[in-house]
Amino acid sequence: MNRRHIVVISGAGLSAESGLRTFRDNGGLWENHRVEDVATPEAWERDRTLVLKFYNERRKALRDALPNPAHLEIASWERHSRVSVITQNVDDLHERAGSTSVLHLHGELTKARSTSDPDLVLPIDGWELREGDLCPLGSQLRPHIVWFGEDVPEFSRAAEIVSTADLLIVVGTSLQVYPAASLAWEAPENARRILVDPNPPDAPEFEIIASKASDGLKSLSSQFKYEASGR
Ligand code: OAD
Repeated sequence: MNRRHIVVISGAGLSAESGLRTFRDNGGLWENHRVEDVATPEAWERDRTLVLKFYNERRKALRDALPNPAHLEIASWERHSRVSVITQNVDDLHERAGSTSVLHLHGELTKARSTSDPDLVLPIDGWELREGDLCPLGSQLRPHIVWFGEDVPEFSRAAEIVSTADLLIVVGTSLQVYPAASLAWEAPENARRILVDPNPPDAPEFEIIASKASDGLKSLSSQFKYEASGR
């Protein structure tokens, strides 16, 4: 029997209940940091120390965070469905919750990349990446993050995954950053589309669940159980 394919597109709001800050909410990361200063190739050229510090702080916060019930709900759906997670998040909380198919559109905080060979990606030991940390080729390592103005190399693979969705669940994203925000357009016409967010962006093509991720996804799990019981 063909299993239903659930595709989850997640954003920073999913990890908010783990204590990680979102970007654009009140108190979000972009309130205290300018994108141009910490998340662009130009910022890296201008002031590496500041860029490294910004991501070291993110890594330190991640070290102390745990997956929350929303991450765990998503992982639990693998018991009855094929589940693909496409996340804009650079944390590893989906993986730590047990999800086995996770594609990171915007990179991964726990990894570093060579500045001379973009295919050379290495795990970071601990939370700190410093000036002078070199790849085996002798070049400075940078955070393995897709910065503003850079290509999103995983986009076409993500679009392919979305194109086979039976159910598309978008959770915890303001849908303000492209091309990630355009991924939903790749879903088949007959796919069901659900958006979970306590402060949902304008998205008329979605059924909206206006609640925080843990509550919204728990109610979806209940729906799945109800459907499976054939009632
Ligand atoms: P944003 O900070 O733009 O949006 C977070 C969304 O999460 C908002 O719509 C909130 O309403 C929602 N939210 C807050 N708490 C929530 C909760 N408990 N449960 C569910 N939703 C909640 O974050 P993203 O859309 O992920 O990119 O941002 C996209 C990209 O912009 C990021 O990947 C990052 C950023 O700049 C890069 O750094 C390249």
